[in-house]
Amino acid sequence: MSRERTEIAQLIESESAQESVLIQGWVRTRRDSKDFFFLELNDGSCLKNLQVVVTRAVDGFESLKSIRTGASVSIVGDLVASQGKGQKWEAMAKEVVLLGDSPESYPLQKKRHSLEFMREISHLRPRANLFGAVFRVRSRLSFAIHRYFQENGFFYVNTPIITASDCEGAGDLFKVTTLDMEAPPRSEDGLLDFSQDFFSQKTYLTVSGQLEGEAFATSLGKIYTFGPTFRAENSNTSRHASEFWMVEPEIAFCDLRQDMDCAEDFVKWVIKDTLDTCQSDLELFFNYVDKDLEERLRFVVERPFNRVSYTEAVEILQASGKKWDYPVEWGANLQSEHERYLTEEHFKSPVTVYDYPKGIKPFYMRTNEDQKTVAAMDVLVPGIGEIVGGSQREERLDILLENMKHHNISEEDYSWYVDLRRFGSVPHAGFGLGFERLLMFITGMGNIRDVIPFARTPGNI
Ligand code: 4AD
Ligand code: MG
Repeated sequence: MSRERTEIAQLIESESAQESVLIQGWVRTRRDSKDFFFLELNDGSCLKNLQVVVTRAVDGFESLKSIRTGASVSIVGDLVASQGKGQKWEAMAKEVVLLGDSPESYPLQKKRHSLEFMREISHLRPRANLFGAVFRVRSRLSFAIHRYFQENGFFYVNTPIITASDCEGAGDLFKVTTLDMEAPPRSEDGLLDFSQDFFSQKTYLTVSGQLEGEAFATSLGKIYTFGPTFRAENSNTSRHASEFWMVEPEIAFCDLRQDMDCAEDFVKWVIKDTLDTCQSDLELFFNYVDKDLEERLRFVVERPFNRVSYTEAVEILQASGKKWDYPVEWGANLQSEHERYLTEEHFKSPVTVYDYPKGIKPFYMRTNEDQKTVAAMDVLVPGIGEIVGGSQREERLDILLENMKHHNISEEDYSWYVDLRRFGSVPHAGFGLGFERLLMFITGMGNIRDVIPFARTPGNI
């Protein structure tokens, strides 16, 4: 019978010495002495390595002395109190088997590598301390997100990835087709004939699960989606990816104020949960990535967010005396430089901006009484800018239809969405949180490419 391995995360927390445990992992370094050598072993279960002592008493000692960084090994040994500094336990090896050798060409030799270099070896970078920590925190954060919603009465809905609707109306959609691109069928007017395509019409990868989410919120009451989202916008920034994960709660019988309350409570809760459960991985970010990070996260958890209307935000920006690359005027979109000024310099805290001009927002947002603004909100955080975008949805049939006409959206194509207003319409609201942006905020990592396992960005796959 083969023995179960014990993970290093458990061994380093052990209460007592243990005999003959099976430890399997990858060698980070080897240090040699005359009659023994040390292996620093990591198995991915935690940031810390386990020190293994291999003496002449171990079979094959001489040939094992050439075990190299990156090699995988299987070791049976006793867990004993460590003589050395820096660790409580170490393992005295009794048997060592080299599973997979790792030649000198192994790219992760013990030295500092640039993040750019690491992106070129995204298949190996999770073996590095920094990325191991990023992806363990990512896993824990997604669990926290599910916990938050599940414990607050939300149902998890899987909205489709292939869709026929353009939720945000921004036109940055990836097309999904099985047409022969070399010789596509054309109709008599010379245009591509999508009636011959797989779904007999134009289809895309989804930019948001919101519209489908609304159908479920107006049935199950409170729902959330958490899945991949695709945007073909050609934004080559440190905060945009072409494929990213979005969390989208949608709540029936909810107005914009309650929606903002939910978004703020949610962001605080998942950050607190991560602080509580990922301590040792977070230490790495606090110590080596951003010295102010811990204080910033605790501040966000403990203090209320600021709230300011778009109109007030514009006044603050205009009064700032700053020279902007993009001019600030009522009616224009807030650019990243404006968002960052508000959260980093003016408020020095997260800030939720609400009631945006109707003209710059999608068709589904609820028109406010002033007729000029919509019940929209964005949560902005220092270092990143927007991490949440949401709104109260237009639940009044006549106004929704008017908005659709104005945005050139076909009532026929969206008849299912309009039905939600025809039959038992209710006030409802929701938001979308960029999962990677939240992870950037929590880890202090400055580039979205470094918090996604395999990043997809313009020109890069
Ligand atoms: O503000 P957005 O575009 O909102 C929506 O899609 C709504 N349908 C959400 C809703 O109300 N249910 O996107 C929501 C969030 C942004 O605040 C941002 O954090 C993230 O998604 N995001 C991106 N993250 C990474 N790369 C991109 N290209 C992103 N675009 C948006
Ligand atoms: Mg947005």
